[in-house]
Amino acid sequence: MENITGNPVTYKNYLQTRLFLVDDLRSYVRKTSVIIEAPRRFGKTSVIKEFIRQEEEKEDQDQEFHVLFLELEGEETIDAFCFKLFKELLSLYQCRRHLEWIRELLGDAWNVIASRLSKVKVSELEIELHEKTRGTDFPLWKERLRSMIIGLNSFDKKTVIVFDEFPDMLLNFKNKNEESLGFKDAADKLTGWLRSLRQEAEADNDGGKYQFVFCGSVNLRKTLEDIGISKRINDLEPLVVPPLNCEDATVLVKSLSDNYELEIEQDGIQFMVSKIIDGSPYYGQILIKALRDTREKVFHLVKVQAVYDAMLRGGNHDIQHFHSRLNDYLSPVERECSAIILKHLCCGGIPEKQLFDTYVYERCSYEVFQSVVNRLIYEGYITRDTESQGEIKFVSTLLKDWWACKVGVR
Ligand SMILES: Nc1ncnc2c1ncn2[C@@H]1O[C@H](COP(=O)(O)OP(=O)(O)OP(=O)(O)O)[C@@H](O)[C@H]1O
Ligand SMILES: [Mg+2]
Repeated sequence: MENITGNPVTYKNYLQTRLFLVDDLRSYVRKTSVIIEAPRRFGKTSVIKEFIRQEEEKEDQDQEFHVLFLELEGEETIDAFCFKLFKELLSLYQCRRHLEWIRELLGDAWNVIASRLSKVKVSELEIELHEKTRGTDFPLWKERLRSMIIGLNSFDKKTVIVFDEFPDMLLNFKNKNEESLGFKDAADKLTGWLRSLRQEAEADNDGGKYQFVFCGSVNLRKTLEDIGISKRINDLEPLVVPPLNCEDATVLVKSLSDNYELEIEQDGIQFMVSKIIDGSPYYGQILIKALRDTREKVFHLVKVQAVYDAMLRGGNHDIQHFHSRLNDYLSPVERECSAIILKHLCCGGIPEKQLFDTYVYERCSYEVFQSVVNRLIYEGYITRDTESQGEIKFVSTLLKDWWACKVGVR
């Protein structure tokens, strides 16, 4: 198992104890659309990529799904979203040799492009496609895309359309202010339209031939709730990517260290597991990376502890991005509130209400405090402790120790 820090993993690099997530996703998309819910860096994209890999590995006659994967993080307008979806659908129709149907659908004005599609890939026609679709408004996009999506019903296999980083795109509508409809209106229209497409699929006897998978590092439910349209996604089946449990963490540390022939003493392994448990596999990866960076092969507990400490104090850039996102996405008041919350959680979990009443109430309203808590949860910083009622705490001890070093508590 290779140590791939920061990028989605598949196949032999996918933690074996978590393959059940891929099986769950597969059985859900046989009958319904799905929302993959988890904080940042928990492994949402990896579940999808491994699902795609397993599907592609099969012989053609055994494959159940075509999967279209749309990465939406950088998209800032509905038009850009529609264009991307259009391109992906076109590619699917192209490789399933349904070009004649596409030619009919698009009409005579598209003849030149349609004939070129029989020879070159869609990606090579990007400029022409942009030219041709320039100025297309949302009603026209909807009409065109709907025909293509409904047309998937005629394929032998089901199609799964994955929208990765979907909520980030919605927030881009808001932050970059480039959506002419206005954020709320744009999010409402887009999610409403996607909902109606799912309803059309449901109306079909066997649930239709296409399903959507929504996934993203900020909470889609919360984003839509805030603007009063959460009902737009209440038909989606949630797939929750859980934090690492003890077995996951142990297998991760052992598989990664074996791969690089690192000999870590048993109590060193236990120490590492205790630091990354309840967090994401990412923390295990950065810890292994820190050990490898020493160029040594044998690690006693004291050595592991020393490397761990140096990693935290050295401003490790693999963790640093957690902080930069807070600076980018929170308002000054929210940032101040988040700093207070995180500082006090460095000493251990605290019940949410007590945290507000004791440390935060003078700085902001309870509403703002709650929105910051929710944001920190979805940024992957903190979690609501299911063991002790009402407490919030850092996600994994590693992140807590890192923050404690940062603010001088450790
Ligand atoms: N099953 C797994 N086995 C091993 N490592 C994993 C697994 N899932 C995720 N990781 C690691 O965790 C990190 C995050 O993975 P991934 O990008 O899939 O998560 P994500 O939830 O999509 O993240 P983001 O919120 O940044 O989009 C990566 O470094 C990845 O290599
Ligand atoms: Mg991702």
